[in-house]
Amino acid sequence: MIPTWAQLLYLFGAVCFILALKGLSGPKTARNGNLIGAFAAVLACTIPFFYGDLDHVPLIVAAIAVGTVGGVYGARTVQMTQMPQMVALFNGVGGGAAALVALLELDEIVGAADAGFDVQKFTLVATAFTILVGSVSFAGSIITFAKLQDLMTSRPVVFPGLPVVFGAGILGAIVLAVLQVREANLALGIVLALVGLLLGVLLVLPVGGADVPIVISLLNAFTGLTVAAGGYVLSNTLLLVAGTLVGASGTFLTLLMANAMGRSVANILFGALRGGSTLGGGEVSDRPVKSAGPEDVAIMLNYAERVIIVPGYGLAVAQAQHTLRELVDLLIARGAEVDYAIHPVAGRMPGHMNVLLAEAQVPYEQLIEMDEINDEFKEADVVLVVGANDVVNPAARNTPSAPIYGMPILNADEAKQVVFLKRSMRPGFAGIENELLFEPETTLLFGDAKDTLGKVLTAVKAL
Ligand code: TAP
Repeated sequence: MIPTWAQLLYLFGAVCFILALKGLSGPKTARNGNLIGAFAAVLACTIPFFYGDLDHVPLIVAAIAVGTVGGVYGARTVQMTQMPQMVALFNGVGGGAAALVALLELDEIVGAADAGFDVQKFTLVATAFTILVGSVSFAGSIITFAKLQDLMTSRPVVFPGLPVVFGAGILGAIVLAVLQVREANLALGIVLALVGLLLGVLLVLPVGGADVPIVISLLNAFTGLTVAAGGYVLSNTLLLVAGTLVGASGTFLTLLMANAMGRSVANILFGALRGGSTLGGGEVSDRPVKSAGPEDVAIMLNYAERVIIVPGYGLAVAQAQHTLRELVDLLIARGAEVDYAIHPVAGRMPGHMNVLLAEAQVPYEQLIEMDEINDEFKEADVVLVVGANDVVNPAARNTPSAPIYGMPILNADEAKQVVFLKRSMRPGFAGIENELLFEPETTLLFGDAKDTLGKVLTAVKAL
């Protein structure tokens, strides 16, 4: 039995997790939210040491030490562009840990049942669920990590019969789970975990590399639900609340991202099986465009009263956020009104642009969400598109056959002049041509964004 004081502290920790999530919902409060969440996690790990008969204390402390060193080292050394795979890894170990805890708990349940104690059916349902979904989440997350870290191909991997094997796997998992609930059995639990691992691999293999961040979010939701079920099995309020929060927020995030990309979650997961959504690649266009040098762009910017910056994935690749901020600061100091237009799926992970620009200490007030700024593009003298493509591609509005058709976009095409900073005529993530590149009001400045922005900055300073 968990003593009342510990239960109360768990409840306090659960409230901290809720406050952490609230804090994380805005850039200004995110840092504090993160700290409150970390505090609650430390509290959760500490409480069990002070009650009951904890076995294997040195082993537990050693495991915590290994986890702490790995976590701190990983978080300190990870590159901003590698964040999605870092999240995938953390998420995967969470799901795997929950599945292992459930297997150990199952072992206890089997012992209790053998000793003649009554075992509640719902506890067995929750245990089977945790083992299965935790294993799916672990294996799926490891494959997403491998895809994003280039340890394997990031293209969808599909083989003949994959849907049949996947379907058979699901059916097998249901049968095993039902048998497991009818009579608790550790061997069945282990087979269920193995089937879960197989399902996790098969679920993620057909997903194309660039869709992987959405799958990470989905697997994150799975892990949350697993942890919540684990909390029920272990009668731990804190796990129950934390797991539910992760499950709910992961589900919302998945749906919001899919909506912002104008696609369904089913299309993202199973599109490749139907020969559909294999995004990426695409032709390099050889149609003529209007290009200019950094000095020309500097003159345009210097005379503009209203400038909107559209940051995209290429800004992160070029790591040009600091140079961009310097340029924007200079333009503002010279009297221009300048804002950053933030598309919800610009970049490759949720909030990618916010994090990137926050790193360069861009004031939050200058980051304006798509819905808020979209009406202002028609007033803009210059829109500077820095390493973005799909998020301003009018095909999303006009071309029903385009893979991004239906995705809301930033109205950059309504501005008086548009300048694209990119390296080549290669398309963006969706692999399709962007008609805006060929419009008369559009100018291209070719080169790595850090390099070209640096030159534009020097040229503006010289004016
Ligand atoms: P993209 O459409 O992928 O365009 C990126 C652009 O950056 C390309 O035009 C590329 O052209 C340019 N670029 C790359 N490296 C560069 C560098 N070093 N210097 C200058 N330019 C560089 O990016 P976006 O507009 O941000 O759109 C995001 C896309 O990713 C959407 O389709 C979205 O659905 C998808 N997606 C987003 C997420 C999330 S959650 N954000 C998750 C998965 C997928 P060059 O190669 O010619 O330089």
